[in-house]
Amino acid sequence: MQVVKYVFQPHGDERGQLIALEEYKDIPFEIKRVYYMYDTLEGVRRGFHAHKSLKQILVCIHGTCKVLLDNGKEKKIVPLEKPYEGLYIANNIWREMYDFSSDAVLMVFASDYYREEDYIRDYQEFLDMVNKEGKDL
Ligand code: TYD
Repeated sequence: MQVVKYVFQPHGDERGQLIALEEYKDIPFEIKRVYYMYDTLEGVRRGFHAHKSLKQILVCIHGTCKVLLDNGKEKKIVPLEKPYEGLYIANNIWREMYDFSSDAVLMVFASDYYREEDYIRDYQEFLDMVNKEGKDL
């Protein structure tokens, strides 16, 4: 599985850093929704789902966390430790986020509005879906 990490270009000067993200330029889709997680308690693991069609970019804009990506065949652990790095997560990828530092702010850019119908929250259902899609090809 290929891990796609974007490195955003900061506009740094003597005052500090600024990062601007524009849809179809820095973010490879129309941004329909932005949400963020903060005050995540120690030891918490969240996510535990895949999306049927939603695409996302995750940016840990403060602090650090880890993301487990799973395509049904292979798993990868991706640390997010820099505010200028964005992790692209395509549809049909199971994800879990964990090891949040107490100051972590994890911001997510999403290609669609929140729709519960797009979620696959059952791991076995996820495996069945990706295995079936593989056979259809
Ligand atoms: P949840 O899906 O449990 O978050 P995670 O996958 O990161 O563990 O979402 C937590 C709550 O927030 C849940 O009640 C649904 C709600 N929610 C929204 O209303 N809009 C959103 O865009 C998201 C991501 C969640």
